[in-house]
Amino acid sequence: MKTIEDLGDLRGKRVLVRSDLNVPLDGTTITDDGRVRASVPTIQQLADAGARVIVVAHLGRPKGAPEAKYSLAPVAARLSELLGKPVTFAQDTVGDEAASIVKGLADGEIALLENLRFNAGETSKDDAERLAFAQQLAAFADAYVSDGFGVVHRKQASVYDVATLLPSAPGGLVQAETTVLRRLTEEPERPYVVVLGGSKVSDKLGVIDNLLKVADRILIGGGMLFTFLKAQGHGVGSSLLEEDQIDTCLDYLKRAAETGVEIVLPVDVVAAEKFAADAAHQVVAADAIPDGTLGLDIGPESAALFASKIADAGTVFWNGPMGVFEFEAFAGGTRAVAQALTETAGFTVVGGGDSAAAVRTLGFDEAAFGHISTGGGASLEFLEGKQLPGLDVLDNQ
Ligand code: 3PG
Repeated sequence: MKTIEDLGDLRGKRVLVRSDLNVPLDGTTITDDGRVRASVPTIQQLADAGARVIVVAHLGRPKGAPEAKYSLAPVAARLSELLGKPVTFAQDTVGDEAASIVKGLADGEIALLENLRFNAGETSKDDAERLAFAQQLAAFADAYVSDGFGVVHRKQASVYDVATLLPSAPGGLVQAETTVLRRLTEEPERPYVVVLGGSKVSDKLGVIDNLLKVADRILIGGGMLFTFLKAQGHGVGSSLLEEDQIDTCLDYLKRAAETGVEIVLPVDVVAAEKFAADAAHQVVAADAIPDGTLGLDIGPESAALFASKIADAGTVFWNGPMGVFEFEAFAGGTRAVAQALTETAGFTVVGGGDSAAAVRTLGFDEAAFGHISTGGGASLEFLEGKQLPGLDVLDNQ
């Protein structure tokens, strides 16, 4: 893989950087700025090299037109704070304001353009429409740096097409992320323990398929655990359930038994009367969830069980919270898994926007983990062994 250095002397050059600045917002307040912080070193490096830096990114999933709640304006302010220098924010993507700001950049100065997904061309499935938008972006710059690891699995104008139009290289974040994740796909230290959570089994099908071939243990928590419990013949009350995935879960359990992969399911859950922070709740056995209640976290016995399965790991990959950690009453399982990762001597990787946010929200020291990925879907697809368009296009340059 090339590096930024391969782009030559960048002084005075206009460099378009694709970052992943897709952060959770509460109104205009950023609730977890991990991705902004992770984007700073590459932007800083380019500015230090004298480049005129044009940062582009998306936020949320607007449908190809401006929507105030998805504006990157709060991110521009945070980026500027973290960099300790001004970041000029353009309130459009490839319009007059962006063009004039880009034109006015001096060496070492930085601009951030508005949410790229305000333009339908960014995510279009129509190659020509996407390319047309990429051409407009490329016209702003002399070179392209791909540093939004969280979006490299998307074939989108600013991730894929623009790299075909300009001299391109990956930024430091994309390099660091791929180096770490490669360590997980090529000869991981064993036992290789994978902890999967999050709400849906259907989001994780490819990754579970693949992990059944490489992992030693797969621990399952989060909303997806209930489909597994149902597959084992247990009632799950009103818990999240994907009826159409029950057979898939059964198949996973069968294949795991055949290949000797240990699938560890919770033995108890925290069952609540409703989905609310203050809902009445109780710990119940995983095979005895009362009707009318819904599981919102794994229980304390399961948390201890999961911690014991993590303790002797050589490698741990964790994706997805164990419960609704945003509500303190249902944060215990996620906290216990995070704690176990900080205590094992094995190499630990936290993948996924939600689990990474959980680690920080729950007050863990990021340095206690081997690596906290900025990629949710991207890190999962990498582990699935899929071809990622945003990486492939750089390799083929
Ligand atoms: C993410 O949040 O995983 C990335 O920013 C990609 O966002 P997307 O799933 O909306 O493409």
